[in-house]
Amino acid sequence: MKEERNKELLERAGKVIPNGVYGHMSVGNQSPRTPQFYARAKGAYLWDYDGQRYIDYMCAFGPQLFGYGHEEIDAAFINQLREVDIATAPSARMVELAEAYAKQITHCDWSMFCKNGTDATSMALMVARHYRQKRKVLIASGAYHGATTWCSPVAHGTLPEDRAHFIHYEYNNAESLRAAVAEAGDDLAAIFATPHKHDIIATQEPPDLDYARAARAACDEHDALLILDDVRGGFRIARDCSWQAIDVAPDLSTWGKALANGHALSCLMGSDKAKAAASEIFVTGSFWMAAAPMAAALKTLELIQSTDYLEHTIAMGQALRNGLEGIAKETGLAISQSGPAQMPLIMINKEDGRRDMKLSLAFADQLLEHGILFHPYHNMFFSNAISDSDIDQTLSACQKVARAMGQ
Ligand SMILES: Cc1ncc(COP(=O)(O)O)c(C=O)c1O
Repeated sequence: MKEERNKELLERAGKVIPNGVYGHMSVGNQSPRTPQFYARAKGAYLWDYDGQRYIDYMCAFGPQLFGYGHEEIDAAFINQLREVDIATAPSARMVELAEAYAKQITHCDWSMFCKNGTDATSMALMVARHYRQKRKVLIASGAYHGATTWCSPVAHGTLPEDRAHFIHYEYNNAESLRAAVAEAGDDLAAIFATPHKHDIIATQEPPDLDYARAARAACDEHDALLILDDVRGGFRIARDCSWQAIDVAPDLSTWGKALANGHALSCLMGSDKAKAAASEIFVTGSFWMAAAPMAAALKTLELIQSTDYLEHTIAMGQALRNGLEGIAKETGLAISQSGPAQMPLIMINKEDGRRDMKLSLAFADQLLEHGILFHPYHNMFFSNAISDSDIDQTLSACQKVARAMGQ
């Protein structure tokens, strides 16, 4: 593998950007030859600066639902850009998009648009606290809700006071949730939940019905708001809010990533119950109401409604999962797979079932040589652009790597 240009860029970045690349897109904890920069993206593929092509299973950490550079979505974006994008007030696209989500998403009566998932979760927090003037907010231990003072997984630069009114519970554990609710007492403002357990490194788990219903019941009993953080799972699990499948309706849901197929847009959706509180908080941003990403989101929603993207991504994910199960059996390599097939976490375990980070890093590292981009410890994402032949190529590479590692 050639790495010259990537290395050169990394070296230059380190001089002018803290950490070279910061946040979730830093590959600092992955194998040293993981590309840190990409020169080109199309469909299911990325190209690094040294000319190597990769089948990409990360989809930019979620935003790519229909593949990079999707012609129709990008045309909607560009056409809108030529009319009006960011202006002194929003365009009609904002009204149309809020109307479209109110029709599409069962619990949703209204939307507020923003740029990043963290904007949406922070707004949800403010709405929930303002709703009945209460303070305590329940969050599952290990769940990710963004990167700002109240929720960043790394506490540097934050104060204990920023997190003074958060209580943690164990995801999928109704007893632990009830204990946290009791601790919050009359001061319970909200419960945050992700659609399934999709924490880094941990085995992914579907939502347990007792747990989800306990969260709904506690919010009803205490006149608090249930917030479903669908930033990562939104439109990847269902064509509705992700908990629609288990018939548990949140009061607020937060969305981002896939909404506009990679164009910058996030959203807080809510039911009528929370509308007055949402109307009274002050939130805004210079670029939040830009029209071009909203035009892209309208086109993305049209494709969500009119194509079999969901069935296709599930089928492709399942084909990879089945193939990897066979490879694990054949080679003896303990390939651990969890999560929805279209959002899988794939890691390598030790014989006793615990994670082996070294082997997980090595597996992803070896796949790079075959032009396959896996993440060694974060859940991955399938876009609609992944094809049967991509899966065949991926499985053939996985087999070679697993045979070499399993020996
Ligand atoms: C569940 C969840 N919530 C919130 C966020 C924050 O979104 P953003 O990175 O767009 O701020 C993420 C990002 O990965 C996420 O997965």
